Amino acid sequence: MNRQYLFDHYPNVVVTSECFKLHDEIISQIDEGEILVRNHYLSLDPYMRGRMSKAKNYAAGQELNTVMQGGTVGEVVESKHADFKVGDTVICTGGWQLYYRTAPTMDSNHVRKIDVSRIPMSVYLGAAGMPGITAWYGLNKIIKPQSGETLVVSAASGAVGSVVGQLAKQKGCRVIGIAGGPEKCEYVVETLGFDDCIDYKAYPDAETLSHELRQLAPNGVDAYYENVGGYIMDAVLDNLNAFARVAICGLIAGYDGRAIPISNPRAILVARASITGFIISDHMDIWPQALAELAEAVAKGVLIFRESVSVGLESAPDAFIGLLQGHNFGKQLVKLI
Ligand SMILES: NC(=O)c1ccc[n+]([C@@H]2O[C@H](COP(=O)([O-])OP(=O)(O)OC[C@H]3O[C@@H](n4cnc5c(N)ncnc54)[C@H](OP(=O)(O)O)[C@@H]3O)[C@@H](O)[C@H]2O)c1
Repeated sequence: MNRQYLFDHYPNVVVTSECFKLHDEIISQIDEGEILVRNHYLSLDPYMRGRMSKAKNYAAGQELNTVMQGGTVGEVVESKHADFKVGDTVICTGGWQLYYRTAPTMDSNHVRKIDVSRIPMSVYLGAAGMPGITAWYGLNKIIKPQSGETLVVSAASGAVGSVVGQLAKQKGCRVIGIAGGPEKCEYVVETLGFDDCIDYKAYPDAETLSHELRQLAPNGVDAYYENVGGYIMDAVLDNLNAFARVAICGLIAGYDGRAIPISNPRAILVARASITGFIISDHMDIWPQALAELAEAVAKGVLIFRESVSVGLESAPDAFIGLLQGHNFGKQLVKLI
């Protein structure tokens, strides 16, 4: 039997557990060219919220009554495909379910074998996976940090933000994180090695947050890696230096559909700032290099990662709702086996 979560209802503003429906099905015999994967870990990611909506987006929305999409790592348990054998560990878009039956094709990147001899398989969904590669791209290809510059990153303890800050430190930047709560901020500084971290919850508006940032960065901010939006973005824009670069990676504060306007666009003009949004799936060409570098850094212990693991497929809806509310501490995963 396979157990899966279907997308059952569009959220009415916030995501609730009623948006998802459990469904059991019998797994039929696989055909020639197919494999059956037992999913071990499911990745929960903020982009899933955007897909649960009819609003304009960069990718097609999730259809009602279909298996919730998502990245997974797991083990091939049956194979009628020449390139995969039983026991191979793979990363794929296996979705919110226990088993994934698929027909990998040569021109498709959707099932890849992964080397788990040096790093755990779950890391291919985090620091050495899509979130890490997103951090790598935004930092190296958009921000292009120079040694001695000051960089700010929001959602700093999370899957993307934690990698951004560590890579920027390795490039000689002064790095200031922004995160929710003292525990996350302490981790960002003490464990990840950022220079400072601001608990935005202690500064509930742009003015007070901007003031605090100015205390920590009296010479201004040269680069901003944006994961959140809203008043946090306003506060950072207010502190930009001339010709600052801003990479818009995510705007999670507005993913439930609430408008998160930029309150003072004059700051962009005054700083002559470059603001670039990007989606990592548009840049598949850099994945091999980024993945190799990140996996090597994790294996050597020079790139630290943290995971929030909820156990059992049935825990996925609550874990996802928690992710959107900041309850995760590090990369949010669901352990399925
Ligand atoms: N452009 C791309 O291709 C791409 C790819 C991957 C991810 N992303 C984006 O990158 C961002 C981070 O993703 P991730 O996977 O690394 O997630 P994450 O940071 O591990 O988890 C999300 C975090 O966002 C913070 N957050 C949630 N709601 C917030 C709010 N209203 N205000 C401020 N902070 C809030 C919470 O941290 P705190 O407790 O610190 O508030 C939460 O833990 C997201 O915006 C995501 O959409 C973009």
